[in-house]
Amino acid sequence: MIRSYILIAVLIILADSNPVQVASKDWYKNSLVYQIYPRSFKDSNGDGIGDLNGITKNLVHVAEIGADVVWISTIFSSPQKDFGYDISNFTNINEEYGTLEDFNKLIEKARFLGIKVILDFVPNHSSDQHKWFNQSIHRIKPYDEYYIWRDAKYDEHQNRLPPNNWLSNFGGSAWQWNDIRKQYYLHQFAAGQPDLNYRNDELQEEMKNVLVFWMDRGVEGFRIDAINHMYEDDQFRDEPLSNIPGVPSDDYDFLNHIYTKNLPETYKVLESWRKLMDDQSPGNTKMILTEAYADFDLIIKYYLSGSTVPFNFMFISDLNNKSTAVDFKRSIDRWMNNVPNGTEYVANWVLGNHDNHRVASRFGEKRVDQLFMLVTILPGVSVIYNGDEIGMVDREFTYEETKDPAGCNAGPERYWLKSRDPERTPFQWNDGPNAGFSTSSSTWLPVNENYIHLNVEAQKYKAYSHYNILTRLIELKKKSVIEYGTLETALYCSKCSVTENVLGVVRRHRSYIVVLIVNFSDTEMIVVDIGMWLNISEPLRVYTSSKGSNLSPRQIVELRSFSLSASVSAVLTTPNLLN
Ligand code: NOJ
Repeated sequence: MIRSYILIAVLIILADSNPVQVASKDWYKNSLVYQIYPRSFKDSNGDGIGDLNGITKNLVHVAEIGADVVWISTIFSSPQKDFGYDISNFTNINEEYGTLEDFNKLIEKARFLGIKVILDFVPNHSSDQHKWFNQSIHRIKPYDEYYIWRDAKYDEHQNRLPPNNWLSNFGGSAWQWNDIRKQYYLHQFAAGQPDLNYRNDELQEEMKNVLVFWMDRGVEGFRIDAINHMYEDDQFRDEPLSNIPGVPSDDYDFLNHIYTKNLPETYKVLESWRKLMDDQSPGNTKMILTEAYADFDLIIKYYLSGSTVPFNFMFISDLNNKSTAVDFKRSIDRWMNNVPNGTEYVANWVLGNHDNHRVASRFGEKRVDQLFMLVTILPGVSVIYNGDEIGMVDREFTYEETKDPAGCNAGPERYWLKSRDPERTPFQWNDGPNAGFSTSSSTWLPVNENYIHLNVEAQKYKAYSHYNILTRLIELKKKSVIEYGTLETALYCSKCSVTENVLGVVRRHRSYIVVLIVNFSDTEMIVVDIGMWLNISEPLRVYTSSKGSNLSPRQIVELRSFSLSASVSAVLTTPNLLN
């Protein structure tokens, strides 16, 4: 009896001192996912490259923001031709980043802070330095069929040609000749990233073992890279032209990818991974985030095959700084109306990632807070990319400075259209050397010169800053009204001669109300009757507002004539939410 009292007391003390990791079926439904690009986050050993110990030491930053999940982009052994998305050993750590012991420490620290760790899973391809590939080249069983090999075609002059017209995402033919095997292999990305063959059962098993390896080491889910590229047409037919004007014939967009993308078989494999993960930890959902740049219907289908977060890229692919309130409402409603019925399915909102220009560069600095408000106040999972919390912007690169294979392959005229280096520069911690990222004399990508004034430390201590607005919004996200509340979206026209230029988002739960109002007009202040427009009679206070709003936190607003300056957005709540 006394023993069990002692045990209970110890458990209470432990629970009190460490944030507890929630293990449940539902834990992911209102979570904030913070993406770390490891090469650029924090260098702990002074070689100019970010690493695992750098992440571990700074996980507290992730906890302070209020993230529930950290998704760490690829950390595995790799010759770094595509900066880690070319993996030479799926179950070991890239030497530049550390060791498996370092990874264990990272997991331990994350657990201590109550953060779940999600890793990248890159099923479509390996590195050409992977031992499987070497054995495949030499036709050693079972590896001979682990990759997609095809014979050459020959023209009338006996010139050797690739088997068909398929193009690589990084430009040029998707086929590379191998002089030992005397066949071409398929690579939908760089030549150093041969495509794996999912029509081979042994390969499928190997990849499942990779998932189990990392789950056994404490990983709570995976972001699945380029999932919609996993299967290709088994008849290897030529793809039709896209007929997009102005696209060069070696550019990926020159073809319409009906035979190399979005094949139905993909969904079956995902179902088998979902089952594997459910069996591994019944009652504790492993998160699956699927990366597919595809048509809306095809993305939505991933829900039904086990994806918890089929990435919703609408803030990246569909909307930009020219989009209107009407465009935003249409995109939000479309997503909400198409999330399948069923309690396991929730919406998700991706603010940015390492493959796209930064949110502050896509929408302009003054709209960053507006985007923060949308991704946190809309229901479901919010996904943010490291550096966006302070509004980091793209850095311009010359062709000579360019490292990304997508940029290098595009050549000096077009590299800037393709390169992803601008959004991958080192994280800006403070105004010290290399923005506090590294003590090295040079860093793998140059630090953006604006770090002197744009850095985490500076923003923490300012009354108004992107960082402070985001962290406040995330506090609000944790409340029941965001987790369970109903959602309404509404449009308003300030001067009804023009189209509606104000967007309203309302969340209600019991006596709690949260209202987000965004003024899309860049020139006009708006005055709205919130009561009439959104059917609200309860008093509302300012929770937070974007720069230039002239509103103070906690200020009671005039419901009948609420005014909001040009390009400004504000979050209002019932007073019972302001503690
Ligand atoms: C998507 C990743 O996010 C990107 O960085 C990579 O180049 C491709 N997939 C290929 O793995």
